[in-house]
Amino acid sequence: MTTITVFKGDGIGPEITDAVIDILNAAKAPLTYEFFNVGAAEYERNGALIPEAAFQSFDKTHILLKSPITTPIGKGFRSLNVTLRKKYDLFANIRPAKSNTAVKTPFPNVDLVTFRENTEDLYAGVEEKISDDEMHSIKIITRHASSRIIRSAFEYAVAHGRKKVTCVHKANIMKLSDGMFLDIFREIAPDYPQVEADDKIVDNTCMQLVMHPENFDVMVMPNLYGDIISDLTSGLIGGLGLLPSMNIGTDYAMFEAVHGSAPDIAGKHIANPTALLWSACMMLEHLGENETARRIRQAVDDVLAEKKCLTPDLGGTAKTEEYKDAIIAKL
Ligand code: NAI
Ligand code: MG
Repeated sequence: MTTITVFKGDGIGPEITDAVIDILNAAKAPLTYEFFNVGAAEYERNGALIPEAAFQSFDKTHILLKSPITTPIGKGFRSLNVTLRKKYDLFANIRPAKSNTAVKTPFPNVDLVTFRENTEDLYAGVEEKISDDEMHSIKIITRHASSRIIRSAFEYAVAHGRKKVTCVHKANIMKLSDGMFLDIFREIAPDYPQVEADDKIVDNTCMQLVMHPENFDVMVMPNLYGDIISDLTSGLIGGLGLLPSMNIGTDYAMFEAVHGSAPDIAGKHIANPTALLWSACMMLEHLGENETARRIRQAVDDVLAEKKCLTPDLGGTAKTEEYKDAIIAKL
């Protein structure tokens, strides 16, 4: 049994978390859970967005299943995600985008994974005001951060039977920063002879992605390109409801849906729990529970393919609980 930390979050967070935990239990996932209320609602109750006990649990378990949190506006709060990324050095943001039979898009064969460096680049916050008319934002690329994100992309490719890793960059213009990122990619690639390695300039990548997304497999890139490209890939598969993610460091891993707390539908029991459920599947795979993850993925695919029990975001009328029960019945 592995103990994991679960943050229930705001808005639709508690509803989708309950559904996901029921499915994990039905699949007999060998997990025990430490649950915490976290986020804006918790702040109103107890004065802290993340209670100390919740941090302590993650410190101990090293595995966090996190549901979305409402970021309070106008009170000077730092984003909770930035806090968690920094505190636990979650340097790789991994977002798989895969076409699904339940969602009609122009691209039926998308199956790709973005590896976004999560700690530096133009997001390091190194900015300088030179004068009232000139501002500088500094792009920081280090060998340390580049090596670990590139290596983790290749490790993932090997572990998941992926064929190719593409390095996305703008080394023709930023010869030093992106140039080093690309050099490191070329140094590391030969360590993984079973995986094909190539590289593409980021603007060309955008064009190719919307014309021939089926030509891409794993992609690895610095922070800013990863932020933009991963949103582009979510558009290719029909939007947010089906996009899981994991944020991973050397010692800690956090799994969450890409979408937010959806206050417009909270409490109505119509939220789609699939993105969080697929995030939980990534967590199971991270823990080596591949067979349990495979069974859950198969059950979801079966329910989606039948199109009889879909939540409203996918054009159906099912409640969250009905959709959950349909998946459990398949298990
Ligand atoms: P959102 O992703 O919560 O919602 C956008 C639209 O998608 C809404 O119409 C919503 O109903 C729908 N939607 C989202 N997830 C869905 C699901 N599972 N099933 C069915 N429909 C779904 O984005 P929004 O409205 O911009 O943000 C709401 C709050 O969430 C904000 O406070 C924001 O800061 C926070 N947020 C938190 C994130 C996190 O904790 N990781 C990520 C993104 C936003
Ligand atoms: Mg973004």
